[in-house]
Formats: sequence, C-alpha cells, structure tokens
Amino acid sequence: MAFVVALDGPAAAGKGTLARLIAQHYGFHHLDTGLTYRATAKALMDAGLPLDDEAVAERVALTLDLAGLDRAELSRHDIGEAASRVAVMPAVRRALVEAQRAFSAMEPGTVLDGRDIGTVVCPQAQVKFYVTADPEIRAQRRLDEIVERGGAQDFQSVLSDIIQRDERDMGRADSPLRPARDAHLLDTSKMRIEAAFSAAKTVIDSALRT
Ligand code: C5P
Repeated sequence: MAFVVALDGPAAAGKGTLARLIAQHYGFHHLDTGLTYRATAKALMDAGLPLDDEAVAERVALTLDLAGLDRAELSRHDIGEAASRVAVMPAVRRALVEAQRAFSAMEPGTVLDGRDIGTVVCPQAQVKFYVTADPEIRAQRRLDEIVERGGAQDFQSVLSDIIQRDERDMGRADSPLRPARDAHLLDTSKMRIEAAFSAAKTVIDSALRT
C-alpha cells in the first residue's frame, strides 16, 4: 500500500507550501485537491454554466483530467470563491474524491492537501496533519501574495473573505473541514515554514520506520 501523507486546513494556512516541501523531500507525488474543485468551477464559468446545478457540475467533475491542473491558471480569487460553492454539492465531491483516491495509491507515496483528506478521502493515511493559523495571519499572507503578483486589495476585505470561506468550508453538511481524530496539529501562526516542515518531518520519519 502506498504511503500517504494527508494535510488539511483552512485557506492560506501554509498547507500547500508544506505539502510541496514534503513531496520534494520524500520523492512522493503531490496533489493539491483544491485545484480539482477550482478546475471544476472554472470549467463551469468558462462554459457559462450555473455553479449550483448539481447534475451539470457532476458531469464536468467526472471529465476532469488531474494531469492538466495548473495552479497559476486557477489561483484567481473568484475561482476560489466559486470552488467553495461547487464543493458543497455531494455529487461533485463523490466524483472528485474518486479521482483523488486513485491518485493517492501511486507508489512510492503521495501527499494530498485539502479540507477532507484525513477524514474522508484517505482515512487510512499513515500520517495526517491539520495545518492552521489565526485568520488575521492568514489574511496578511494572502494579501502579501496578492501584492507580490502586482494586485491591490485592502486587509479588511481579504480578512472577511477568509472568514466567510472558513464558515462555508466548516459549516457544510458533506465533508466539512475539521481535524481528523488522529491528525497532528500544526499551528503556523508563529511558526516559520521551515519549523513546520521540520516538525512534520519528525512525524513522517517515525511513521516510515514502523
Ligand atoms: O485550497 P483551495 O483554496 O484551493 O480550495 C478551494 C475550495 O475548494 C475550498 O475553499 C473548499 O471549499 C474546496 N475544497 C474542498 N475539499 C478539498 C479541497 C478544497 O472542499 N479537499
């Protein structure tokens, strides 16, 4: 059975960066599962289709090609918003979770990051992390990214978006964001990414030895 590292947590907590570092260090395949929801939402928007028609969205989700996911192309703020709306629909989740599970079986191991990896997609994962940080810290990080890309937005609106996204992701009926019972908690509020990676490495090394 492939070794699976599951990382869950709210937006801008640092789980994507951490997942990439872990995958690179161990030579594991990495899937940012947020991109699967984003790509589904973008395909609907590009085709001028509604974001709340479950049967239509399911059809799009079923044809998604994981190999063609491009973070740069999908990083737009409105796509993230739309993704969290399509992500509440159980038929969409079923289709995407199946593709994510197939990915997770790749040898020698995989790292998946998202909202429901440790709880729903890969409950058997050998190592699970719940990566979080205070909303204000996450909003500042998101704002720094926006400014770096040449954009402009004010802190309050980024913060209120983050809070609204948290509420939607934690409050939905199907696969809400929450830590798995056996997840290791990583609060990156006051921790640099190197320290978070080093803490994660200790846990993974120990699981690889058993
Ligand atoms: O992580 P990212 O911001 O790219 O995810 C976009 C949205 O996709 C999230 O706000 C969430 O609603 C949804 N998502 C999900 N389950 C996952 C990954 C993302 O519901 N495993």
